[in-house]
Amino acid sequence: MGRKLLLEHINEPGINTFAVYRQKGGYRAVEKALKTMSPDDVVEEVKKSGLRGRGGAGFPTGMKWSFLAKPEGVPRYLVCNGDESEPGTFKDRYLMTHIPHALVEGMIVSSYALGANTSYIYVRGEMMPQIRILENAIAEAKAAGFLGNNILGTGYNLEIYVQPGGGAYICGEETALLESLEGKRGNPRIKPPFPAIAGLYGCPTVVNNVESIAATVPIINDGGEEYAKIGIERSTGTKLISASGNINKPGVYEIELGVPVEEFIYSDEYCGGIANGKKLKALVAGGSSVPILPANLITKTATGNPRLMTYESLADGGFQTGSMMGSGGFIVFDEDQCIVRNTWNFARFYHHESCGQCSPCREGTGWMEKVLHKIELGHGSMEDIDLLWDIQRKIEGNTICPLGDAAAWPVAAAIRHFRDEFEWHVLNPQESQTRNYGLAHY
Ligand code: NAI
Ligand code: SF4
Repeated sequence: MGRKLLLEHINEPGINTFAVYRQKGGYRAVEKALKTMSPDDVVEEVKKSGLRGRGGAGFPTGMKWSFLAKPEGVPRYLVCNGDESEPGTFKDRYLMTHIPHALVEGMIVSSYALGANTSYIYVRGEMMPQIRILENAIAEAKAAGFLGNNILGTGYNLEIYVQPGGGAYICGEETALLESLEGKRGNPRIKPPFPAIAGLYGCPTVVNNVESIAATVPIINDGGEEYAKIGIERSTGTKLISASGNINKPGVYEIELGVPVEEFIYSDEYCGGIANGKKLKALVAGGSSVPILPANLITKTATGNPRLMTYESLADGGFQTGSMMGSGGFIVFDEDQCIVRNTWNFARFYHHESCGQCSPCREGTGWMEKVLHKIELGHGSMEDIDLLWDIQRKIEGNTICPLGDAAAWPVAAAIRHFRDEFEWHVLNPQESQTRNYGLAHY
């Protein structure tokens, strides 16, 4: 049984309330940080922990914090990115729903470390229940003296506000999120400058994912070095994984980084194997934005090493034979699933969510969707497969924000590993059409 740092008390009745959370040791990290540590000490512990951003990019959290500019007289902000929308990813929603005080406690510790006196939790607009849950948790923490002015008599002041998101996937991109928080349309900004230099209202801002912020609680309680003892190489600590698809036990799991992918899929502690006794066909390991892996590259890398649930191992082989940890949206496909159909489905999503600022993304995502749909319906040609490859190549790396890359990579990986399926649709137009389950028109 792996160690649980975030979900240890998840099954405790009433853990969503301040009273039970506190009884289980909650808010000790706030007491320790504010009463016995300087803000720089807290940053140092997070650096020692090796924690990497849990939203998808895996950027070292302590390093991001140390980039924060500190000009005299200018406010600094912490913004929590709770705009979770990556297809296949639902772990932040789970955390906010069931153990909201873990996030509120992490917000207090992290805001203290950064010298922020006003912080925001930007929650996906569709998640109204979670917004209410967090507002309630904040009110409880404030009533108990953990928020507001002169917290625990230490002289530190902090207010946390919950902001409902703008209702678009792109509002989860950190600079689009800041635009949205400022009341504008959620269009990504060109980086640099990074938010650490010019973020919310032009002020230095750290944007961290829900899970990253919650992870600062065990880091402060146990110390960064203890946290870093869990995991392998540069993948330290525990990670929440949203597991879905053709598995026996879909759900949110907290794993110690380094668990073999094979164990995660087949053991009863996690996914419990492929549903209905089918064979494993493919895996999207980190949410819809990452390259899909075919069966022969899922449990072993191209060099024959066991594939592990770490940032390094999942990416082993680069984009040719590897994938990415991403946001931990683990989607399993059995032998009956159509890769072309799935790729079209993802492309449809990115086309719908493109903000339209840059041409390669605005035009390219729609073009890919159309070509994929044509192939899926049995109307495509071999040239269409090459065209698709060409379009994704022209999007990748040529856009303002990572949505363009996120749209291109799944298409590239699907063609690279499953070209025979694309060709099957071209060569078998009749069967392609009859396989369409009545979903051809949407
Ligand atoms: P990124 O790699 O551009 O940045 C990572 C973080 O490091 C950002 O906060 C950035 O400001 C900071 N950073 C990087 N270089 C810096 C520098 N030199 N100085 C200061 N700060 C620096 O990636 P981004 O755009 O934050 O995230 C993309 C990832 O998000 C994708 O890989 C995808 O997996 C994930 N994603 C997750 C979603 C979810 O629902 N959880 C939704 C959509 C995407
Ligand atoms: Fe908008 Fe797409 Fe450009 Fe990102 S890549 S800024 S989503 S058009």
